[in-house]
Amino acid sequence: MRISVVTGPAETIEVDALIVAYPKAAKDPSPWDKLDQSTDGLITEALQSPAFRGAAGTCLAVPIRKRTPCRDLILVGLGDPGAGVEGWRRAVADGADLARRRGHRRVGLAVPEDGVIAAPARLAAAAAEAIVLGNYRYTEFKRPEEHQKPLESALLVTSTLDAPGQVKSASIIAGAVCWARDLINTPPSDKRPPELAAIAATMAAETGLSCHIIDEREAASLGLNALLAVARGSSAGPRMVILEHAPAGATGAPVVLVGKGVTFDTGGISIKPAKGMDEMKADMSGAAAVLAAMRAAAELDLPLRVGAVVPMAENMPGGDSYRPGDLVRAYNGTTIEVLNTDAEGRMILADALAYAREHFAPACMIDLATLTGACVVALGEEVAGLMGNDEELAAELVQASDESGERLWRLPMYPEYRKLIESRVADIKNTGGRWGGAITAAKFLQEFVGDTPWAHLDIAGPAYATKDAPYRPRGGVGFGVRLLLSWLQARAGGHTSGAAQ
Ligand code: BES
Ligand code: MN
Ligand code: ZN
Repeated sequence: MRISVVTGPAETIEVDALIVAYPKAAKDPSPWDKLDQSTDGLITEALQSPAFRGAAGTCLAVPIRKRTPCRDLILVGLGDPGAGVEGWRRAVADGADLARRRGHRRVGLAVPEDGVIAAPARLAAAAAEAIVLGNYRYTEFKRPEEHQKPLESALLVTSTLDAPGQVKSASIIAGAVCWARDLINTPPSDKRPPELAAIAATMAAETGLSCHIIDEREAASLGLNALLAVARGSSAGPRMVILEHAPAGATGAPVVLVGKGVTFDTGGISIKPAKGMDEMKADMSGAAAVLAAMRAAAELDLPLRVGAVVPMAENMPGGDSYRPGDLVRAYNGTTIEVLNTDAEGRMILADALAYAREHFAPACMIDLATLTGACVVALGEEVAGLMGNDEELAAELVQASDESGERLWRLPMYPEYRKLIESRVADIKNTGGRWGGAITAAKFLQEFVGDTPWAHLDIAGPAYATKDAPYRPRGGVGFGVRLLLSWLQARAGGHTSGAAQ
């Protein structure tokens, strides 16, 4: 998919369909009067008909009867301009989707220059995200004739000078999100830890990240016993992938990203019910987000040191599985009483966080994990839980979330919750009982971060979509990649433009 910026005017560009957005109850074609004139008043007519009222989520295709290359004007409703940049993203995605369903391959989009929703460069970048992400389908295993052809190109019409740079960055980031989606949608048989680690290594070699893969032998000699325990039921050994983006001149402590990479979660001996177990191929969505964020950081050449630690294991029942009742000594020496083998994410993250802290001496750490069903019960499928030990870092992430449209909601970490993971026979136990499960899981993780500023994103809800939504088809979502990049860009000191401009 090619995305480019052109300076217009909109009525002269060569596309099959042109997308034009209007807020709720728009009465006249302004600011696209020229376009209206050149189409003999099509917009005026459409705005006066009951077919289009500019409500959010509504679209209208208006065929152009003139002999122009552009066959359709696609009006999309912005609803209330208070819906902001996220409302714009959704509207653009709906318009692009309608164009695609009408068989078009080349779309144009008129970017409003009036600054009502946001600055035009920001809107252009958000539109690029929405179009690339909305165009994504996982087609690896489908006969080609069975799926609709994707869009080939999008021209974004704006004369703002900083639009091309921001659109370029947004396209790189959206490309990384699609890559994360591919990893999540890949069947679990094809991404067992050794394979997933090899994919990460190939990506690192291609983008110039440094990469080290800890295999089961090295894990054993290091004492990554919690990771090894989870992996024991599987015939595929665990891996832990260590990546670093270290641009010249960026010194000081790195920020470190950690992602849960359970390539398939059966629950192990504490086995899950059969219904919906296939979705547990997405239990490596945290890993996918972190790998994709590292890829984008490298491709954008962010002027910031960024490290990543990605533990990978397959949680299977087997003759050598870890069991309820086992006691495991984690990498930092903390002993864990295993009460439920399905609470495996916190086990592998325990070692990963402790290792990250020791290996990188980070300025701060953020982990992403499809960690608890309890978080989905609390917040639903659209919102990730945000927990941690540092107010400033949490506030930065909330800000990044506002920018990316990936929703976060804070959950409390009061000291009282710590009691719920106390064990009689070990330092802590790996389940905290029925109530507050997202928080007790975070409390467990906190035992492994020491005094490093840390944030934990429980993405169990939003990582995998069971229904289609604008710019997010069913399946792996790639949740967190854009949020992380927004946060990294802010941390690196403002917006950076693509390296390959
Ligand atoms: N991967 C699951 C959490 C999950 C549930 C992700 C639903 C996405 C959708 C995790 O490993 C798990 O099984 N957690 C248990 C923890 C419990 C045993 C303490 C859970 O949430 O039930
Ligand atoms: Mn589990
Ligand atoms: Zn899991």
